[in-house]
Amino acid sequence: MKAVVLDTDDRFRLTELDRPLPGPGQVAIAVQYAGIQWGDVLVRRGHFPVQRPFVPGFEAAGRVVGVGQGVDEALLGRTVTALTGGGAFADVVIASAALVFDAEGLDPRTAAAFGWATATAYDLVHTVTRVRSGERVLVHAAAGGVGTMAAQYARAAGAGRIVGVVGDAERAAYAARFGYDRLITRAEFADAGDAQAGEESFDVVLDPVGGPTRLTSLLRLAPHGRLAMYGALAGSAPVALDSDELLMRGRSVLSYNSDLLSRTHPERLADSARQALRAVAQGHVRPDITAEYEMADLDEALRRLAEGKTYGKSILRVAPQLT
Ligand SMILES: NC(=O)c1ccc[n+]([C@@H]2O[C@H](COP(=O)([O-])OP(=O)(O)OC[C@H]3O[C@@H](n4cnc5c(N)ncnc54)[C@H](OP(=O)(O)O)[C@@H]3O)[C@@H](O)[C@H]2O)c1
Repeated sequence: MKAVVLDTDDRFRLTELDRPLPGPGQVAIAVQYAGIQWGDVLVRRGHFPVQRPFVPGFEAAGRVVGVGQGVDEALLGRTVTALTGGGAFADVVIASAALVFDAEGLDPRTAAAFGWATATAYDLVHTVTRVRSGERVLVHAAAGGVGTMAAQYARAAGAGRIVGVVGDAERAAYAARFGYDRLITRAEFADAGDAQAGEESFDVVLDPVGGPTRLTSLLRLAPHGRLAMYGALAGSAPVALDSDELLMRGRSVLSYNSDLLSRTHPERLADSARQALRAVAQGHVRPDITAEYEMADLDEALRRLAEGKTYGKSILRVAPQLT
């Protein structure tokens, strides 16, 4: 089968590999499209511990072509979307049956764009911060894969006001179509004062950025506000949190790590992913695909994502017409 491999010399190569076979509890999926996400950038940069040569790609849509021991054979031939531990940028990917979801009737591009970002956005809104009706929500990286979905899930959950933070005005214009009430640039957010200086405060902040942005965001939390940290786009330098200050002001800091959740409590992640997917299938929320790449162009796709030049979701075309 063909696959994109990140080699020991730090280059991507489109190459031929043996087809992998599903082990116990696993399924093999013939991939039509695969989602591209920040985790692929981290793998590219060497910030994600994988053994090279490595086939990246953490989300795939396609058809089940093999099931391992203990997996229901009724899955064979089904159209599915899967959250994987890598390997999706290939003709066949192996996924844990626990994280394979029925996608019959869903356009395969949309099914590929679903991915970890959508499940994460759903969890951030529903199981982590538990957005309540009328609450004010601040979304960082608002024009990206998780951000665009989080805004939609927050609105569907009844959020009263949603503010997004983006890199520049062009990205603000793009993000506006996802229901944000206000969009500001990162520079504007960094320069703004805190709530006491008249700036608006929030009940919920979704923060994949970290660093100084995390501290500034905390200052904007209303009493009983919740900040969910779920990434480190600005780097992993430690952020010193003052627990007494948090307590006195009734502010909470929560964390979310879907990769860890998939290993410790896969059933919880699967439950959220199913709810998230149902909302997509019913048309209540939609992943917005703005770029589609050939397998040979993965390097270019990841460069654009890493440079903040992508909007919404990018996908990789693997084998759209399965035989
Ligand atoms: N914890 C989890 O379970 C989980 C799951 C999925 C994703 N994530 C995290 O969620 C984040 C978004 O992932 P994604 O795949 O949806 O990517 P994405 O949002 O589509 O792309 C990343 C975006 O982040 C913004 N950005 C880049 N560098 C930044 C910086 N230094 N400071 C602030 N913003 C910056 C850029 O948009 P702007 O320039 O417009 O801001 C860029 O487009 C990543 O950190 C990823 O690791 C976490």
